[in-house]
Amino acid sequence: MIVLQGVTFYYPGATTPALEKINLGIQPGEFLAVTGPNGSGKSTLARLLNGLLRPGEGRVRVDGLDTGEPASLVAIRRRVGMVFQDPDNQLVAATAADDVAFGLENLGLPPAEIRARVDWALKTVGLDDLADRPPHQLSGGQKQRLALAGVLAMEPRYLVLDEATAMLDPVAREEILQQVLKQRREQGIAVILISHLMEEALLADRMLVMQAGKITWTGQPREIVHQDRVLAAAGLRLPAVVALGQSLRRRGFQLGENPLNGEELARVLWKLASRR
Ligand SMILES: Nc1ncnc2c1ncn2[C@@H]1O[C@H](COP(=O)(O)OP(=O)(O)O)[C@@H](O)[C@H]1O
Ligand SMILES: [Mg+2]
Repeated sequence: MIVLQGVTFYYPGATTPALEKINLGIQPGEFLAVTGPNGSGKSTLARLLNGLLRPGEGRVRVDGLDTGEPASLVAIRRRVGMVFQDPDNQLVAATAADDVAFGLENLGLPPAEIRARVDWALKTVGLDDLADRPPHQLSGGQKQRLALAGVLAMEPRYLVLDEATAMLDPVAREEILQQVLKQRREQGIAVILISHLMEEALLADRMLVMQAGKITWTGQPREIVHQDRVLAAAGLRLPAVVALGQSLRRRGFQLGENPLNGEELARVLWKLASRR
């Protein structure tokens, strides 16, 4: 479990905290979405989860390891994998395969184990055909997959995606997310999806809304649909299809549970129509 207790963080020279008194627990295997407007502290939170940043006040513990303890950082970074919005900063080697191997070599694993993990990770993200390609000759989506392969090969317990699909087209975005969720199902990796896209955040089991360095709401995606004030204060909008469900409900349609996507809305409308 990742536990944040009373975490406050100021960037050097800042007069207002980027995060203020954050308390949060993240369970192994959980699918958590973190959403909120630009500058609300999402990326700062992500960087605190694996010790890239240390809290000024409070504590962050990963499976009992304190990120403020320099001796624990290597073990913490093995447990908490991160993929960022811009993969270029994460890709370092001459070929895709070398790039995935890089982190594993730093772990001091035997060569046969490294080879097996590289093959598995590249195959998992669908890049096995491009193993020998230099990373800079990959498309944006392929680079993002490669960054993900590098992280998956480390066999993390927690995977943090900080707007990792933001620069991709919708098809690639969905493919990568599905791949990640498959790893979650098969290996029990916790997924912490940081996204300002509500469509994505609504897929999670639990959602967290951030605003001005604080967590202003946490709950299940189906409940946030009713949180007009939380959404408005954070400058967030429901996806059009969810908003449509809401306005139909206000007009007296008996929709049952809040439809969270077009498929669900179509299903309840069909049910209503065929009852006539
Ligand atoms: N490296 C930095 N140095 C100084 N201030 C920063 C830095 N990174 C982010 N901030 C500030 O911290 C706050 C939170 O930023 P961030 O965590 O990046 O938000 P988000 O990811 O939600 O857009 C913002 O006010 C931002 O300007
Ligand atoms: Mg950010």
